[in-house]
Amino acid sequence: MADCHLKDVRCREDDARLVLQWRNDPVTREGSFHTGERHWADFWPDFRDGYPPAGAARPQFVMCAGRPVAFLRFDPPRTGHGDDDLVEISINVAPDHRSRGIGVAALHLAEGYLHRFGHAGILALVKADNAISRRVFEKAGYQATGEISVTPSEGMPPTVAIRYIRPLKRESGTMA
Ligand SMILES: CC(C)(COP(=O)(O)OP(=O)(O)OC[C@H]1O[C@@H](n2cnc3c(N)ncnc32)[C@H](O)[C@@H]1OP(=O)(O)O)[C@@H](O)C(=O)NCCC(=O)NCCS
Repeated sequence: MADCHLKDVRCREDDARLVLQWRNDPVTREGSFHTGERHWADFWPDFRDGYPPAGAARPQFVMCAGRPVAFLRFDPPRTGHGDDDLVEISINVAPDHRSRGIGVAALHLAEGYLHRFGHAGILALVKADNAISRRVFEKAGYQATGEISVTPSEGMPPTVAIRYIRPLKRESGTMA
């Protein structure tokens, strides 16, 4: 993974189309809280309007050998769980690049990127039955801190997730 690095996912249709393509992969959907397929007509407005403001962590592609091989997204934590000083990470490795160590490498790169934003730590909510993802977060040094019930959206049944935390050391001069 020596030649892998992060690159901003831009607020552009070509980047968003690649994110959508990977997001609709059946294994990705199975590992996500929202398992339904998404369509460009509603995905693009959500992507464009939800693009982080200046000063916040931007979504990232992991680039290996010059090609995008994974996607990382960073969101404010869901309200009501007392996690306001954390940032929630989502990860999706390109379907044809899985099981090659990219997931763990991507989480290490994310950690390096997130230091500058002043969060106390990174939060990951992983479906309890997503064994590969749990393994990857644990290998990357995340600590399981218990189970939590996640309701993806109103009216949907709750899913049991494992709550993982990776503390971040704050850099001097960060934005918090
Ligand atoms: C989960 C995901 C991010 C992992 O990334 P990856 O690049 O495939 O994972 P890696 O190659 O870095 O590591 C895979 C690890 O899981 C292990 N693994 C593979 N299959 C497994 C299984 N069925 N059960 C437990 N561990 C498993 C591998 O052995 C490897 O561990 P090892 O290096 O100790 O042998 C990726 O598969 C993915 O994007 N999946 C779809 C989306 C998703 O589930 N995202 C996470 C939502 S929280």
